[in-house]
Amino acid sequence: PRAHIELDKSAVIAPVQRRTFGAFVEHLGRCVYTGLYEPGHPSANSGGFRMDVVELVRELGAATIRYPGGNFVSGFRWEDSVGPREARPVRRDLAWHSLESNQVGLDEFARWLRLTGSELMLAVNLGTRGILPALDLLEYANHPSGTALSDLRIANGTPQPHNVRMWCLGNEMDGPWQEGFMTADDYGKLAARTAAAMKMADKDLELVVCGSSGSGMPTFGDWERTVLEHSYEHVDYVSCHAYYQEFDGDLGSFLASALDMDYFIDTVVVTADHVGHKKRSKKKMQLSFDEWNVWYLKEHQERQETAEASAEWCYAPRLLEDVYSVADAVVVGNLLMTLLKHSDRVTSASLAQLVNVIAPIMTEPGGPAWRQTTFFPFSITSRLASGEVIRPVIEAPAYHTARHGEAPVIDAVATADDGRAAVFLVNRDLRETAQVTIDVRSLGSTRITEAVTLADADVYAKNTLAEPDRVTPATNASAALANGVLTIELPPVSWTAAALS
Ligand code: AHR
Repeated sequence: PRAHIELDKSAVIAPVQRRTFGAFVEHLGRCVYTGLYEPGHPSANSGGFRMDVVELVRELGAATIRYPGGNFVSGFRWEDSVGPREARPVRRDLAWHSLESNQVGLDEFARWLRLTGSELMLAVNLGTRGILPALDLLEYANHPSGTALSDLRIANGTPQPHNVRMWCLGNEMDGPWQEGFMTADDYGKLAARTAAAMKMADKDLELVVCGSSGSGMPTFGDWERTVLEHSYEHVDYVSCHAYYQEFDGDLGSFLASALDMDYFIDTVVVTADHVGHKKRSKKKMQLSFDEWNVWYLKEHQERQETAEASAEWCYAPRLLEDVYSVADAVVVGNLLMTLLKHSDRVTSASLAQLVNVIAPIMTEPGGPAWRQTTFFPFSITSRLASGEVIRPVIEAPAYHTARHGEAPVIDAVATADDGRAAVFLVNRDLRETAQVTIDVRSLGSTRITEAVTLADADVYAKNTLAEPDRVTPATNASAALANGVLTIELPPVSWTAAALS
């Protein structure tokens, strides 16, 4: 196929939000234990954190990290995970049918975030707990000193407050799988009261109320409306969660997954604006897309790799360790482009998750850490996207998909900063290389500083422990810039980034 893209630097959507490049660490499987924390590992620091993983997280460019769950948070007592380690209790985590040793908690995780340079986004348990434990956690985390819980934090070895700005009011409270799941009315009331109380402590907190766990939820839309009718004036964000996978060999539909994310975002925006209008509110609700990724959930469910299916209670079991292909990476790159295109309303997002569990980074206990295919589009976009997001005008042929209707073969987004620009592209065609011309005159660019493509003759090629560098991005030698037109060839099923100056 051939495609032409017009870039007009005045077609600004919004500034690039650093929080778009967030990730997620849940106490689930081997994300924390033998993932980012493994005392005794050759690369571990004195706190037991794997520095090989820290290096990869830095390279990934993860801006914010949501913690500690996820479904886990709905059974979590935060008090278990602070104080002297030898006194911390072992608990059952019902969500993932695992044992939790509590050897890593808020104070350790905040220390780890100083190594990675990321911001903490903390979730409170509104599934099996309520307002007071949330307020206690807020006091422990953020109050400087001179109160029972701030002094406890200091006595536990953390003199400075963590000063957490973003807080999630529970997790996926619309999901029947959630411990303590609720109706939208019940949750909306609880979230509103919790948020109002938290803001009595600090009016500048940024609070995220739970939206839907997916656009396929039977309550999608109504859930957001009802929850926001209760909580609109007290919260700042409504969350969105979405996972995609290839079903039954339908790669064409899978590659067009970004269309569903687009629909999801548009629907939540109009629903939130409807409530805001009814309340005559001046506030524009923001969206926190705080779980998104490719996840082969259907296969996990078929293998019965679920909480209740495993008989044993064990520490850090191997759960949800999806191994990602080139096609998966193209979809992840495209989903991130979609989030960028919605930067006017989606001002926070978290790739779910970060290490081992549906993650861009994998580790072997006692062994190496490596990059999955999906690592590359995320890290390169995080590094190159800056300034403002520019809405492209794309002329490209479309193809039919069973799941998403007509889908353009080419998708793209651009960012422009002072004298710097970047264009991100995908080719969804299963067989043909796309010839693309991009009019960049308005950006004033004269030079290509970098052009990389992720593609492979085998679209299901993966990086594994045995072959950790099987798939890596390669320089796209076809890229040329002359007379304000960037020409580039995009291989079939590929993700590309071009940086210009
Ligand atoms: O990310 C894995 C799980 O997916 C999270 O725990 C939950 O919030 C979602 O259903």
